[in-house]
Amino acid sequence: MKWLISFFTSSLGRKLIMALTGLFLIIFLLIHLTGNSLLLLNDGGESFTGFVVFMEENPVIKISAYILYLGFIIHIIQGISVYLGNRKAKGGSYAVTTTANASIFSKYMFWFGMVILIFLIIHLGDFWLGLKVTHTFGNEELYHKLINKFHNPIYLIIYELGMIALFMHLRHGFQSAFQTLGLNDKKWTPIVKCLGNIYSIIVPLGFFIIPLYVYFVK
Ligand code: HEM
Repeated sequence: MKWLISFFTSSLGRKLIMALTGLFLIIFLLIHLTGNSLLLLNDGGESFTGFVVFMEENPVIKISAYILYLGFIIHIIQGISVYLGNRKAKGGSYAVTTTANASIFSKYMFWFGMVILIFLIIHLGDFWLGLKVTHTFGNEELYHKLINKFHNPIYLIIYELGMIALFMHLRHGFQSAFQTLGLNDKKWTPIVKCLGNIYSIIVPLGFFIIPLYVYFVK
């Protein structure tokens, strides 16, 4: 047990936790986007509400939701801890990566993560809290609540800023997770890079388009 604790608190162990929880969140985002893209249909929210009900009633999804919350919490705590550890090691430097060839994506990973965290707090407060914790509204009201929210330009801007940060964070995060997990050789690196590029563009773009579509079309 002691070796397990010392492994997961070591620098390699912490990177591994970041990679595993990050990959789990990457899968979650793909499912979340699939459900949200139903908002683009012109069916008065029928398909979207059906998806939300299905997700709520499915026991496997219910259990995964708790793993998801834990994944988010661990990923955030470890991210802050890795950042502070790096800063200390570099004698108070603000950037995590200071090598000359570091991309803007890897250099500001932490700060993009912080913007996503602020977005997430606002986002969960708006939908998840009322739906799943305080039960102030039900599945049927969710669709109209969402449409109303996205008609507010301030809310729209907050969302779009969150999605830009998500794009920047995923751009480096996707590849970095696979690299940490050892998929870093001549054959795999170009494949992972290509997948990372496709994912980090398609997923945030999908999330970016939905509020805009609701604002201008619905
Ligand atoms: C257009 C963008 C988005 C829309 C319209 C949207 C909508 C929603 C809605 C309606 C819910 C509550 C119902 C449900 O659990 O399905 C929800 C939950 C949630 N959203 Fe989003 N979301 C968006 C983007 C995001 C992004 C980018 C993230 C993460 C970075 C995120 C993370 C979450 C989480 C963690 C939950 C709680 C999930 C659960 O309890 O199972 N969402 N979202």
